[in-house]
Amino acid sequence: MIIAIDGTLASGKGTIATRIAAYYSLPHMDTGRLYRATGVAAMRAGVPLDDAKGLAELASTLDPGIYEEADLRTAEAGAAASKVAAIPEVRAALLELQRTFAQQPTGAVLDGRDIGTVVCPDADVKLWVDADTEVRAERRHRELAAAGDPITIEELIRQLHERDERDRSRKDAPMKMAADAVLIDTTHLTIDAAVEKARATVEAVMTRQE
Ligand code: C5P
Repeated sequence: MIIAIDGTLASGKGTIATRIAAYYSLPHMDTGRLYRATGVAAMRAGVPLDDAKGLAELASTLDPGIYEEADLRTAEAGAAASKVAAIPEVRAALLELQRTFAQQPTGAVLDGRDIGTVVCPDADVKLWVDADTEVRAERRHRELAAAGDPITIEELIRQLHERDERDRSRKDAPMKMAADAVLIDTTHLTIDAAVEKARATVEAVMTRQE
């Protein structure tokens, strides 16, 4: 069973994906980390964030050790990720890795922006997770503040708008809900309620497939 969980920044998709993967004992890939790792690696190596060839080279030779680094969680890494993610050569360099992960015999959970539309268009379950911008900004603010980042909510709202706009308007694999995805709006949901909704959707698909 392949479960594709896409959605906007700080909508709760990552937590839903982690909990659904644990519940069904499926391997999980947070695909945003690939783009964040590419952005961070580029900044460290001094590769400009619009150098398609240099970035694609970095993306195809990423050291897996970088995925666990705290530097990937910063707002700066997120912004760099969104810039490199708009470059088709970077997306192409990361595509096979994601598809291979999805094709494991056990199945898999992948979360990102284009899993249901591009990476796994035949996924068994597709979820689209979203929430109002203010609520997303508050959530991200709590996370970043806990990590010692002094960024304000106002600045985060501005960054969320900018990032969503860039992710939605890029030509290659823009962020959008797949036509056959189920929407989970987490604006007024606790994380437990959102996970429960996701689980109910998976269960409904499994029942249909039996
Ligand atoms: O989800 P996360 O905030 O870690 O993603 C960082 C950026 O990586 C996103 O803003 C988006 O530009 C890019 N991304 C993407 N496709 C994915 C996952 C992430 O373009 N499947």
